[in-house]
Parts: sequence; structure tokens; C-alpha cells
Amino acid sequence: MIKPHDGSAMDISDEKIRELVERFSTRGPRYTSYPTAPQWTEKVDSNVYREVLHNHTDPSPIALYTHIPFCAKLCLYCACNVRITGKQDLVERYLDALKRETETVAGLFQTRPKLAQMHFGGGTPTFLTPDQLGGVIDSLDANFESIPGAERSIEVDPRVTTVEHLEMLRSKGFQRISMGVQDLDEQVQVTVKREYSEEQLTQFVADARRVGFEGVNLDLIYGLPFQTEKTWKRTVDSIIAIRPDRLAVFGYAHVPWMKPHQKSLEKFGLPSPEERLSLAIQCRRAFIDAGYFAIGLDHFALPSDDMAIAFQKGTIHRNFMGYTVQDTESMVALGVSSIGDFPAAYVHNQMNTDKYIEQIESEGLAITQGHQLSKEDRLRRRVIVRLMGNFHILPAKIEQEFGISFEEHFASEILELQKYVDQGVLRRDDSGWHATVEGTFVVRNIAMIFDRYLETDREKTERYSRTI
Ligand SMILES: C[S@@+](CC[C@H](N)C(=O)[O-])C[C@H]1O[C@@H](n2cnc3c(N)ncnc32)[C@H](O)[C@@H]1O
Ligand code: SF4
Repeated sequence: MIKPHDGSAMDISDEKIRELVERFSTRGPRYTSYPTAPQWTEKVDSNVYREVLHNHTDPSPIALYTHIPFCAKLCLYCACNVRITGKQDLVERYLDALKRETETVAGLFQTRPKLAQMHFGGGTPTFLTPDQLGGVIDSLDANFESIPGAERSIEVDPRVTTVEHLEMLRSKGFQRISMGVQDLDEQVQVTVKREYSEEQLTQFVADARRVGFEGVNLDLIYGLPFQTEKTWKRTVDSIIAIRPDRLAVFGYAHVPWMKPHQKSLEKFGLPSPEERLSLAIQCRRAFIDAGYFAIGLDHFALPSDDMAIAFQKGTIHRNFMGYTVQDTESMVALGVSSIGDFPAAYVHNQMNTDKYIEQIESEGLAITQGHQLSKEDRLRRRVIVRLMGNFHILPAKIEQEFGISFEEHFASEILELQKYVDQGVLRRDDSGWHATVEGTFVVRNIAMIFDRYLETDREKTERYSRTI
């Protein structure tokens, strides 16, 4: 049996990728959740969340995500939930609210919750001073108990992160650091209003390693104005010279109806879909040639990195933080706009920072919407999450967990799977279905077979991204 995660994933040719895009690209969900956001409703509020936490008796360690929305300056491509501010009193009020939310959430569990993973995202968590950020971490540690070997990671903007930040984070057990780079070309940087030199980046990564960070991740974006194969090659060559442990390469998501500031990039012209694909293929080839493992189309990891090892073993997990090596069932999420993920429900916090603070001040929680999962939802979520993370469907495990006959329950889905087997992107054996090397690019399409809300979702949103 050829598994997609045996290194042969690297052998797929650039022409083959183009052919797969031609054959399979359609619009569809990313499946960071199932059911996906169009199904979520305002019926799920803070009261529902209280019950979900109170009834969560599974003792397994969970993941914890904390959102810090602040940034000093807006990058014009940014699609994250950010709040640009210079006001320290707003920041202080936010930190007080976060503390209150932490205490409320932890207090609702019947026993002190254990953590396998603690992650900070944003915005820019290191917009906070080392003292402020250290205070948040201490408050999390006072309310949650990290298990030995728990992963601690943080997203930073290297432009505002100091050596003092790095040392403080290391002293509190953070081992992984992820930094936004996007592109090193000067014209691209000036256009998107995010300037940072290769020398500064090289120095920053060296500092992070010197203070003891074990895993350094860099984020890049292709599809920005003025990116050409020539400029992108220079950026990619510089990144390879820096040799991060992991890379996330995102296609630029242009969503001006949600992020109006992105509109100002249109006057410079955005790369066409064909140009975007060429940029994606170009860096994929370069990273693979430089010794990285390709995980799907957009993640790369050195063979020594945990992510590459988990990928080979078939034990990658997927949640709102993206791919992770920690197989946690549940994720508590704190802070404005964050999304919690539990066997019983998804819960989404207030999107607006001022309203989030007000709601926490008055209620202790700030849920505005979510979804309570039925048994059928949970069953389908399990199939989809495993497929997206590990590129296989193993009926025996699903049957054992959910007490169903896979063949009977998913009779029509199995017929659909066969079409993908016939096209050479899925392989069937006694244990189940495994994506072939080509199939790793098509998992979103395959996951759509198991999405029983897809048709109604399509009516609600025409704005899904392309599946490959
Ligand atoms: C919260 S930011 C990273 C941390 C920090 N604020 C920074 O910019 O360095 C997370 C990542 O999301 C990605 N991102 C932001 N907006 C995006 C967009 N419109 N399309 C694709 N990726 C985007 C960027 O690669 C960015 O590094
Ligand atoms: S890319 Fe990072 S620094 Fe720039 S606005 Fe978005 S979150 Fe802030």
C-alpha cells in the first residue's frame, strides 16, 4: 500500500498539480469545523456554553486558544480579527476582561481542566508588553493545569517583538513561535504597508533560537500585488536560507466585503488565478527541493519537525488553529472572536472588541453564536476531521466509536467515494480509504461527500474559496 505520508508525496509533478486543479477545483468549505459556520445560530449563547462546560466530563487534556486582537498598524492584506489602537486603557480593560473570562470558563468545569496545548494568536500577542503578556499566561496557568510536555506556541509579528518578549515566553515554557513574514520583496512590502528587511528577519529568528525556541514557523502569502516569479524566487530563496522548522504558505484571501481596507490593493492589480497557482507550485517545488516535507498544498516541515513526523505516522489533527500534532478532542477559546470546539458544540465569541469587553464585564462570557452537535453531526465531523488531517477514512474506528455499520450508514457516500477511487485519488484496502499522493490535494472535495448541509450552505454563501 502506498501511503500519502511516506515521502512519495513529494514526487507529484507540477504538471500533475495543474491537471488536478483543472479536474477538481470547485468552491467549498475549508472544514476547520463541521458543521461549517453557515449552520451556526444565535440560539447558542452564553447560557448554552455554561451547560456545555458544566457537562464536559471527559478528563482528556484539551487545547486552549487565546486571542489578542491588537496591532500597532494595519497591514492592507489582513483578514484577521484585529483592533488597531494606541490606547493603553482599552488594552488594560481587554486584559481584565480576558482574566474574568478565563476564571469563568475554568470555574464551570467540574474538575480543573488539563491542557495539552496552549496557543496565542491575533492580532499580535506581542503587541502587549512582556509584563502584560506574562500576566495573561500566569492567569491561564492559575486556572488550567498543563500536562507534562504540553505544547506552548505563539504567533508574533517580528516587527514589534523584542528579545525581552522572547525571554519571557521561554521562561514560561513556550517552545514554538510562529511569525508573519508574507513576502520579503520591497515593492510588495511597501504596497501592503508591512515593511521588514531580510536582515531583520534573519536576526530575529537567530534570537528566537538563541533563547531556546525549538520550533520556528514562518508564514508567507502568495497572490499579493507585484509578486512575480522573479520576486517570489528571491523571497523563497531567502526563507530557505533562514531554514525555519515549518512554513505555512497561504493563498491571499481577498475578502473586501468583510475587510474593506483590502479594497485599496485592487488598484495595483492582483495576480490572476493562473499566476497564483504558478507562485504556489513554484515555492512548493523549492521547499521540497530544499528538504521540506509537503503537507498538502500549503504546509511544509523539516523531516525532524514534529509535524512531519506526525504526518508520516498519520496522526495529524486539525482544528481552528490549523494542523496540530496534539490530538485534543476539545478546545477552549478565550478572547474576542475566538471559537471554542467541544464534542457537544461550537461556540463563537463576540467579534467586536468593545462589545466583547462589555459583555464579559456584565456576564462573564460573551458567546454570540454557535452550533450544538447532534450524534449524526459528531459522526460526520469525525470522518471529515480525520480525512482532512490524516488523509484516510478508517471505518472500523468510526464503527467502534459510534456503534454504527459504516457500510449501511454511509451507503450512498460509499458510492461517491468509489468515483474518487476510479479517478485514482483514493485507494481502497481492507482498512478503508486512503488518499493517494494526488488525493492529498483533493481532500476538501472528498470531505464534501460527508457534509449533509452542503446544499443549504451553498444557498447561504457563494463565497467559499476554491477547494484546491
Ligand atoms: C494573526 S497573523 C500573524 C501574526 C502577526 N500579526 C503578524 O502579522 O506577523 C496570522 C497570519 O495570517 C495570514 N493572513 C492574514 N491575512 C491574510 C489573508 N488575507 N490571506 C491569507 N493569509 C492571511 C498571515 O500570513 C499572517 O501571518
Ligand atoms: S497581518 Fe498581523 S500585524 Fe498585520 S494587521 Fe494582521 S494581525 Fe496585525
